[in-house]
Amino acid sequence: MKRQRIVAGNWKMNKTFDEGRDLAISIIQQLGPSENLAVLCPPFIHLNYLSVLTNGIANLKLGAQNCHFEESGAFTGEISAAMLKSVEAEFVILGHSERREYFKEAGELLAKKVDSTLKHGLRPIFCCGEKLDAREAGNQEEIVKQQLEEGLFHLEESQFSNVVIAYEPVWAIGTGKTASPEQAQEMHRYIRNLISLKYSSHTANLTTILYGGSCNPKNAKELFSQPDVDGGLIGGASLHATDFISIFNSFPVSG
Ligand code: 13P
Repeated sequence: MKRQRIVAGNWKMNKTFDEGRDLAISIIQQLGPSENLAVLCPPFIHLNYLSVLTNGIANLKLGAQNCHFEESGAFTGEISAAMLKSVEAEFVILGHSERREYFKEAGELLAKKVDSTLKHGLRPIFCCGEKLDAREAGNQEEIVKQQLEEGLFHLEESQFSNVVIAYEPVWAIGTGKTASPEQAQEMHRYIRNLISLKYSSHTANLTTILYGGSCNPKNAKELFSQPDVDGGLIGGASLHATDFISIFNSFPVSG
């Protein structure tokens, strides 16, 4: 079994309904058949309509950018995993550094969100990554290890096999300052090794680990040619269909 390669677009808080529809249509028109998976993670308002548009396209899936851990109830402004499932979302981004920074999400809360996501048959795209000061102090491995231990490593191995990890160094997000392919590879290998120690080398080898942070059509090929980089979680460049498709087409042919 080969591990799945994925390019996911995190639209963040961008695109009105019409703009999102046009972007998705443009992506669909340019997306060729492929064994690799493209995932669109738009704001919630787009999911229902995009589920109709993408219906039947085998290599194009939908994801959300967040969800609450409770099943339902008085949580004004929140959305549940069951609701996301009901509009055909298959993935949920959790633990993004913007949620960690602006909404103080961390540790136990993220672990509960991961549990709810998996319970409803959705796959978490769990983000981890260090800030600039941690990188400069050489603490990136420690930080990422703690994030994975707090948010994911309570899972059983069979549950963990549904998780996608995104390594997103915070200093590279939206800054135009990409991690070098060597820096990305080093951290991805480190993460895979942690999974191997926690679960098994089999599970580690099958876990998709995405890189995120100023990934664009120019640098995607080199990043994706690293042995432990299985694709990307794309912010800014996912808002332009040709850029997103160009990144999607950046995997090495043989891999
Ligand atoms: P940019 O690609 O805009 O740097 O954003 C990356 C990101 O945060 C994806 O989740």
